[in-house]
Amino acid sequence: MDGDARVNPYLAKNFAPIRSEDDFELEVEGKIPDGLTGALFRIGPNPQFEPRDPNYHWFSGDGMVHGFYVEGGKVRYRNRYARTPKFELESAAGRSMFGTFGNPMTTDPSAMGKDNGVANTNILYHAGKLMALEEGHKPFEMAPGSLASLGYVDAYKGQVTAHPKIDPVTGEMVWFGYSVGEIPLNSLMDYGVTDAKGNVVRRDRFDTPYASMIHDFMVTENYVLFPVLPLTMSLERAMKGRPPLAWEPEKGGYVGVMPRDADVSTIRWFNIDACYMFHPMNAWEEEGRLVADVFRYDTAPLFPRADGKTPERSAARLYRWTLDLTGASDAIVETALDDRDGEFPRFDERRAGMAYRHGWFAADLRNSRTVKYNAIAHVDQTTGARSHYVLPDGDLTSEPVFTPRSDDAAEGDGWLTAVVWRAAENRSDFLVFEAQDVASGPIATAKLPRRVPFGFHGNWVNGVTLAGS
Ligand SMILES: [Fe+2]
Repeated sequence: MDGDARVNPYLAKNFAPIRSEDDFELEVEGKIPDGLTGALFRIGPNPQFEPRDPNYHWFSGDGMVHGFYVEGGKVRYRNRYARTPKFELESAAGRSMFGTFGNPMTTDPSAMGKDNGVANTNILYHAGKLMALEEGHKPFEMAPGSLASLGYVDAYKGQVTAHPKIDPVTGEMVWFGYSVGEIPLNSLMDYGVTDAKGNVVRRDRFDTPYASMIHDFMVTENYVLFPVLPLTMSLERAMKGRPPLAWEPEKGGYVGVMPRDADVSTIRWFNIDACYMFHPMNAWEEEGRLVADVFRYDTAPLFPRADGKTPERSAARLYRWTLDLTGASDAIVETALDDRDGEFPRFDERRAGMAYRHGWFAADLRNSRTVKYNAIAHVDQTTGARSHYVLPDGDLTSEPVFTPRSDDAAEGDGWLTAVVWRAAENRSDFLVFEAQDVASGPIATAKLPRRVPFGFHGNWVNGVTLAGS
């Protein structure tokens, strides 16, 4: 069946790992803004060794951090692996030892039961800690200036989503973990809060309608929303040699809602037609309603159906979900907001949990319906204006990240940074845009001598400078 699939697509072209840890000073074209000082940290999968699992999945490669340090108009680059216990074990062995997603059928017997965290999905700064996050394990701390690995943050006591939300008013970090507890691929979920000083002050367990992959969630000023959508997980299915993660639309979709300070026993489950969402843009409260803008797929991408067949390719578009807290209906109302395919939505996170105006995302304007984002898009939710910058033919972008011009600048007044792959040269560039004028193209381009593989997420951290190697 897989006889002609010798080259795994997640090990080819710009998905392929790079195997060096480097320090480069980048040549800059244009002008880096004077006020832009700090670092863009990006992270993605980059398997240290050729995976032993023939069904290697993109999501299961070792995390590698790419830091772009900007100061005095210069850009310096450093990349380092997140040296997780899995990384160290495989490094000592000189080979890959784990199956994809810990699959026991393809894991080396000597590695069975060992920690297989890859710290590859998001990298986030909170309360003095730069944490590489991957939803199946604890946050993994790295030093911001050197990118040295500092190890798991044990205070979290278990897995934490790669998409915590930081409350811009209280400084709290609100998060969840899914498939928690002893049994793999289960329906239990934890809700957690870390205070502004970095103390984990809450971690409470509850059950969900069914076991599913829950990549992200929504948080407003007073509420938390947990999406349970039918990308299901099943140990029983996996033991029969079928996909552990699969698209099962017949199960329908749910969003669990509760006040942030309430007991998890009070969660109310709203209903939604089968769909999938990796990432929301933002969510907020509006006169007895909760409103969330999300990138919605008709079917979950990147995963098979329960029978192992691959669904039609699926792309996401920006939708608005409205949940009426005051009425009797538990149905979620969906409204399409944008006709551009896209992913990786970002906004000015000083508006997190509140109504917002400016959003950005990576767009696929050729409707290629794969992970091929050829444009950087802006949407103004107040005026409805939509604009985008289309990259030169063949080039592809990562998630665009907003950073404000100053702490007290108006919403959306600042810069957007992104790392793009130059297809013809098989090389990458770091781009800086005026955030509200992406259509004019980058105001500065810092050129890398090699490529940065496609990755997942990144965040800007103000004031960080590069430390000695
Ligand atoms: Fe994500």
